[in-house]
Amino acid sequence: VIDIRKLYAQGDVFTYDPGFTSTASCTSTITYIDGDKGELLYRGYPIEQLAEKSHYLEVCYLLLYGELPTAAQLEDFEHRVTNHTMVHEQMHNFFRGFRRDAHPMATMVGVVGAMSAFYHDSTDISDPWQREVAAIRMIAKLPTIAAMAYKYSVGQPFVYPKNSLDYAGNFLHMCFSVPAEEYIVNPILSKAMDRIFTLHADHEQNASTSTVRLAGSSGANPFACIAAGIACLWGPAHGGANQACLEMLREIGTVDRIPEYIARAKDKDDPFRLMGFGHRVYKNFDPRAKVMKESADEVLELLGIEDNETLKVAKELERIALEDEYFVSKKLYPNVDFYSGIILDAMGFPTAMFTPIFALSRTVGWISQWKEMMFDPELKIGRPRQLYTGAPARGYIEVEDR
Ligand code: ACO
Repeated sequence: VIDIRKLYAQGDVFTYDPGFTSTASCTSTITYIDGDKGELLYRGYPIEQLAEKSHYLEVCYLLLYGELPTAAQLEDFEHRVTNHTMVHEQMHNFFRGFRRDAHPMATMVGVVGAMSAFYHDSTDISDPWQREVAAIRMIAKLPTIAAMAYKYSVGQPFVYPKNSLDYAGNFLHMCFSVPAEEYIVNPILSKAMDRIFTLHADHEQNASTSTVRLAGSSGANPFACIAAGIACLWGPAHGGANQACLEMLREIGTVDRIPEYIARAKDKDDPFRLMGFGHRVYKNFDPRAKVMKESADEVLELLGIEDNETLKVAKELERIALEDEYFVSKKLYPNVDFYSGIILDAMGFPTAMFTPIFALSRTVGWISQWKEMMFDPELKIGRPRQLYTGAPARGYIEVEDR
């Protein structure tokens, strides 16, 4: 590892590293990834163990505070989160300002950003207590905001949180209950939802987390930083891949059309990529995808939809890509987004809700990374350099002479 700051201090030296493929932007104690081994640890704990034995709110505590909670600490944390699940009635007006067919991600970027115009008592980043309240508020309110964005987009009344339900069950309730009929939360579906939250909770310095850190490095308030993260996550190369993946599976439609799409993915003149395949860091397999695949099998079996056409396309695509020389040689394996969309679709979520669900799950990772950065004695404003390739210095030419 080269500490480029020392070199830079000696003269005008800097690295040119498009996509930051080999630049560490910070030190962190939160999440560890070994891309070759396909290993993902939150605070040292393997993701597979957390997905099996823990649950999302416990994982939130772990990410935020560094250790698994005792029973009393967990109870207190759950109580604090539950206390904040409502959004202020006046905030409903923010939603109403959007077109009814707005994408829920657009609504979320706007509403979460607008929280800084609302919760003034948790925007002073120099106050540790305010930082803590902001973190709890976001973990508690993001499911409510995501569910409201969904309800608004389908023209249904907002459903208030029901705090007797667990975090995932409450989210399903807020999305699927209607005044005429309360949604009965199936524990298997709520466990699957919770697992989706857990698997997405953090992933070290990915694009959206780096965006949150970059925004935070300027001293922006936490709500503004998380809104920036949500905006970055939306892109199809990142969190937007889950929506793009299911839409691609539907577009392929039937198994016999797969070869056409495989050929397109290999064609360098065609911008098409197989969505849900490949990862910047995992070059063996994505450990989250393994757990997600098992969860998908469970949910599909429960709902009795193991045999639909989209699923057949997904399974065949996965089989072909895992054997195909192009995908094998470039180490392109199904990533977490390949399977999450299948589960969410089976649960009844429209594709537009896939990325908002990713966003609400990742909020704890973003806020944990942001909090860690606030304690960093070496914190500097993030300010990458550039390699200028434009015109050399030249004199202004009067308009009549051009
Ligand atoms: N389909 C076809 N070819 C691909 C794919 C794909 N999904 N992904 C990468 N490749 C090819 C590239 O064309 C490139 O080929 P080349 O060496 O001949 O030029 C090579 O594999 C390396 O690709 P890069 O884009 O350089 O890899 P990078 O690490 O920058 O990108 C990324 C990773 C963005 C995830 C990419 O694999 C991709 O676009 N995948 C599809 C989108 C997706 O599923 N994103 C979700 C990521 S996981 C997450 O955010 C939770």
